[in-house]
Amino acid sequence: MHEIHIDTNLSREEKYEQLLPEIKALIDSEKDPIANMANVVAVLKEVLGFFWIGFYRHLPSYPNELVLGPFQGPVACTRIPFSKGVCGACATQQQTIVVPDVEQFPGHIACSSLSKSEIVVPLVKDGTTLLVLDVDSTALNDFSEVDAKYLEMIMRFF
Ligand code: SME
Repeated sequence: MHEIHIDTNLSREEKYEQLLPEIKALIDSEKDPIANMANVVAVLKEVLGFFWIGFYRHLPSYPNELVLGPFQGPVACTRIPFSKGVCGACATQQQTIVVPDVEQFPGHIACSSLSKSEIVVPLVKDGTTLLVLDVDSTALNDFSEVDAKYLEMIMRFF
């Protein structure tokens, strides 16, 4: 059993800093990517209190489409075409997208009306987007370069 205890009084950046080696150890101890995605979203939701966090996968059998993977939070859209939403834009552009106000993002897909800001981080290998990690907040402008930096580092563990 791998228990993770992080001081709740720390800043978000300090929490990420302490979580990184814990998450790396979790991923290194298991080969199955779905199991690892499940634990990563569980720990990030528990420690950072995100409203919704989850992976969308790009499977070889479904080109130009993302399929919902492990997540924590309310029920979400199961499939997102590369041409739609923040997740689709991230998968296509192959770079992290921070959206301070989802209503200002053309084509944003509202899985929950409570979601106000969002960050989506890709995992790209050999030119192909394999995964994106999507995090939603009920607060406007909740994500910054700090989230981008640490979530990108976590994606590189996969
Ligand atoms: N808002 C995302 C869709 C996924 S949900 O937020 C969980 C988008 O626009 O791609």
